[in-house]
Parts: sequence; structure tokens; C-alpha cells
Amino acid sequence: MLNEKVAKLLNDQINKELYSAYIYLDMANFYADYGLDGFENWFYIQAQEERDHAMMMREYLKDNGHKITSELIEKPEYTYEKPMDPLVKTLHHEKIVTGLINNIYDAAHEVKDYRTMQFLDWFVNEQMEEEKNAEDNIRKFELFGSDPKGLYSLDQEFLARAYTAPSTAE
Ligand code: FEO
Repeated sequence: MLNEKVAKLLNDQINKELYSAYIYLDMANFYADYGLDGFENWFYIQAQEERDHAMMMREYLKDNGHKITSELIEKPEYTYEKPMDPLVKTLHHEKIVTGLINNIYDAAHEVKDYRTMQFLDWFVNEQMEEEKNAEDNIRKFELFGSDPKGLYSLDQEFLARAYTAPSTAE
């Protein structure tokens, strides 16, 4: 069994990851409404990845003999007016998630829970990727988003993003 505080933080993180999925689905909906299919695709896949993160936490708690509780998932808190807005909010949101993962890591470290620290290593690396992707998307939009041809090309690039399940998620 895991330390109760660590287990509670992991259970809470299931909810946060599902909330992240809901936020990215909301962004996909915004872009669908805007007519940017590629951006919609990029965020739809992002939502799928967040669900995977939640399921990885669920499996981990289950494998360690913990009961999993399902909490209320909040309504997405962000609103958008223009295509750049979700990109900026994504970076903001991922930085919050990085802080949450680090908090769980701290709690595991405090009780010498090396197993959970090792489990969380994947998420620590993933957060570096998530923040980098968000920064790259903002930069690309700054460079190309104001020109119709540039925006079209960027939309096509985002349309090519394909879903792949994380290597540790079964
Ligand atoms: Fe599950 Fe976007 O971090």
C-alpha cells in the first residue's frame, strides 16, 4: 500500500488529468467552430493523451491495492475569442500541471516512496514535452498565424498529428 497522502494526491491527479482532457476537448470544439480542422485535430488528440494520463494513474493506484474514487470534473475554466487564445492557455495550464506533478513527487520523496517517484518520472518527462509543444505552437502561430497562407499551412501541419498511446499505458 502507498502512503495515504501520496495515494490521495494521485487520486486527485486522475481528476486533474480528466479535467485537462475536458479543457482540450473544449479547445478542439472552439477550433471546430472556427473552421480550423487541423487545430481541432491537434487538441482532440491532446484530449486523448490526457485521458491516457488519467488511466495510467488509475492503473498505478489499482496495482498498488488502492480504492479509486471518482470526483466531480469541473467545467472548463478558460474562454477564447481568437485562435491564439487556446495556445496561450495551454502553456499556462501545462505549467500548472507540472506544479501538480512536482507536488506529488515531493510527497513521495518525503516518505521515501521510490516506487512512486519512479512511476512519476514518466510524467516529469512528459511535462517537459507538453510545455515545449505549447511554446512551439505559440511561436509558430506568432510567425505564421497572421498570414492566411501561413495559417493554412499551420492548420495542415496540425491536421497531420496522429494519436499514439503512451508507451507505458496499456
Ligand atoms: Fe497530463 Fe498535459 O499533462
